[in-house]
Amino acid sequence: MNGAAIFEQLVTSQGRKDPYPIYAEAQKSGTVLPLGAGMVMAVGYDAVSAVLRNPAAHAVNSRTVQDPEYVKHSANLLLSSSIIQSEGVVHDFMRTAAASAFTAVRLKKLRLLITSYTERLLDEMAEQGKGGAPVDFVASFAARLPIMVISHIMGIPKEDAKHLSRMVHDSLASWEIIPLKEHIHTADKAADQLLDYVQNLIVERRTQPSEDLTSRLVAAFDADGRFPEDVLRSNIALLLTAGSLTTIDMLGNMMPQLLSSPDIFEKLRNGQIQAAPVVEEAARFDSSVQITVRTLRTETRVPKYDPLPAGTQVLAVIGAANRDPARYSEPHRFDPFRKKRPLLTFGAGAHFCLGAQLARIEGAIALDAIVRRFPHMALAGEPVGSGRLVLRGHQFLPVAVA
Ligand code: HEM
Repeated sequence: MNGAAIFEQLVTSQGRKDPYPIYAEAQKSGTVLPLGAGMVMAVGYDAVSAVLRNPAAHAVNSRTVQDPEYVKHSANLLLSSSIIQSEGVVHDFMRTAAASAFTAVRLKKLRLLITSYTERLLDEMAEQGKGGAPVDFVASFAARLPIMVISHIMGIPKEDAKHLSRMVHDSLASWEIIPLKEHIHTADKAADQLLDYVQNLIVERRTQPSEDLTSRLVAAFDADGRFPEDVLRSNIALLLTAGSLTTIDMLGNMMPQLLSSPDIFEKLRNGQIQAAPVVEEAARFDSSVQITVRTLRTETRVPKYDPLPAGTQVLAVIGAANRDPARYSEPHRFDPFRKKRPLLTFGAGAHFCLGAQLARIEGAIALDAIVRRFPHMALAGEPVGSGRLVLRGHQFLPVAVA
């Protein structure tokens, strides 16, 4: 099947529901597939890795591949002025300033807090699930823990968590290759609200600094003085979005695998396997970021393919790379005991995820606590996916905890 036919299948509702058989079909045709009009789709691990590690590959929003006008939209501006799509001095400055929040020492300190948030949410789930009543794991747990954690890091007041959660979710609604018109509208509206919210937070922290990352970023920007305020605003907004939705989806994508693998759940319960490798395998098996996009500034070599000319737009399909049979044996098997090999779930190269370690810690603490607290947790109905291709997750996951 050629690249264009593969792409068409991926963006159908079935493709978004389960892209993995389509990726496998694509990999039979090669590691990179031409899509026409100066675009290609990289589906092999080595090809995706080479593109992401190429310093001359500029990160762009997936939507702009189909619609160059999209650059003007608020939801795009939020991302394009932020670290994830910036380069050179802005990127270096922002990355150094934000990295201070994700050092091993700071992450270690966060563990206690993540544990206490986790226990609190599980208490609530236990209450809701009394007598075997089904509980939605997404609404009760997955969608809440990462918001609580990133709010703590950024200094967002507890009472704003719900509002923040909605703005974060909606502002990323158009982060797709072909979003629906109404999703573009929803995303733009939410991005405007989120940027306004962040602007107020900046003003507050400028006058009353605190220990949080927002205060440290504001102080670093003001002391440096090279960048306009919208860069600061977008970067804080990006940390709130990238720091939560991806982790929400990671937790939501992990549980269906685990609950349909009773042997692994049992091994977790009796200590034959730790939570960390299970989280790692879940992140490989069904990664929350499936695709990221690059525009190549110079001719780029990728393994087992012709050099890609400057100007090529590359859909780097992380979800396919993580299931490349040339790298992982039996890639479609959920196997936390497999030999550990680096994944592309958190990207690679200059834009490698700043929060990868935090996400892994949240996943492991959550899983450990869930297994101890609900040793007989089971699916209580059909999970419902978010219907999204680029940011893959679940919107409903009924479980029985009692
Ligand atoms: C399972 C959870 C997560 C996944 C799957 C994930 C995935 C990714 C990926 C694939 C990228 C690179 C995108 C690209 O190259 O185009 C990225 C970048 C980034 N992530 Fe994450 N992420 C997760 C959690 C987090 C968390 C918890 C934070 C922060 C609290 C975070 C902050 C960032 C930032 C700031 C960048 C941009 C880094 C740069 O451009 O230098 N992420 N993430």
